Amino acid sequence: MRDHLGRDIRYLRISLTERCDLKCIYCREETAYCQAKRELSVTELARLMGLFAGLGITKVRLTGGEPLVRRDLEEIVHMIARIPQVRDLSMTTNAQSLADRVGALRRAGLQRVNISLDSLQAERYHRMTRGGTLQKALDGLHAALREGLTVKVNVVLVRGENDAEIDDFVALARNYPIDVRFIELMPFCALSAAAEKRVPGEEILARHPALRPVAARHPSQPAADYQEPGALGRVGLIDPISHRFCCCCDRVRLTSDGKLRMCLGQEKETDLRAWMDKSDTALRYIMQKAIYNKPDAHGFDSGFHAVRAMNQIGG
Ligand code: 5AD
Repeated sequence: MRDHLGRDIRYLRISLTERCDLKCIYCREETAYCQAKRELSVTELARLMGLFAGLGITKVRLTGGEPLVRRDLEEIVHMIARIPQVRDLSMTTNAQSLADRVGALRRAGLQRVNISLDSLQAERYHRMTRGGTLQKALDGLHAALREGLTVKVNVVLVRGENDAEIDDFVALARNYPIDVRFIELMPFCALSAAAEKRVPGEEILARHPALRPVAARHPSQPAADYQEPGALGRVGLIDPISHRFCCCCDRVRLTSDGKLRMCLGQEKETDLRAWMDKSDTALRYIMQKAIYNKPDAHGFDSGFHAVRAMNQIGG
């Protein structure tokens, strides 16, 4: 469906849980704890998904938190993959426990995975994720490639932490059929709110003059794509703050506790769970109204103050 600016909203990002086995330094505070909230069940998700599909959603991404902490993830994937309107089903994951489950997830209908990988050095990876094991993420990545899934790698550059590894990530996109996307730091905790920690995309391009702009794979994708001649994968720059792409944003978000959130960088949410005991017609009306009123643009550079950390929204 179209919102009040005429943007065609087709893309739903569902956060399945706020829980995560890692605590990445740019996502939430070290001392943050996860309040146990009731997560949407498969049945609730199925009902909402049916309504979303009716409203024109064709693309779904599962996020978190970490989607793999949900034991019923395969069941959720299976349910969504069977909705005829859904043509693209993907998941964002830290891949710590992906290797063992990726086969079942692919058979259930998962098509693509984006793996968060902020360092290719074990010690730094462990530090940036506050406890993660690099080898597990790499095992997950290779298992996903073996299963034939499309794999992208998400890198959040943090000045003074992993900006020395830009070349290694560019080499990863050169040598593997993997798109590496550098995501600009967005303000969701004390560290990520510090502007001096941000590494602009221009810096990556300046270091790698062989990277040439290439046509986007999808018209509404947030990443500006680049590729070195002969490289197997691409390098994408996602710079929501320095190069905002709100004008062609086609996405909305569902939080794990049933809030419909129209923009990552605007706190306004509509509590769908509060309407779940009403008829489908009533629920659909609430969803339609919320989507129609999707904010024009994020507020990251105009006083946005994060109430929820990133793990609570779904990155
Ligand atoms: N800024 C930018 N990206 C972030 N992510 C999480 N927190 C932030 C932040 N503050 C990204 C993660 C992950 C995806 C889910 O969101 O790297 O790949």
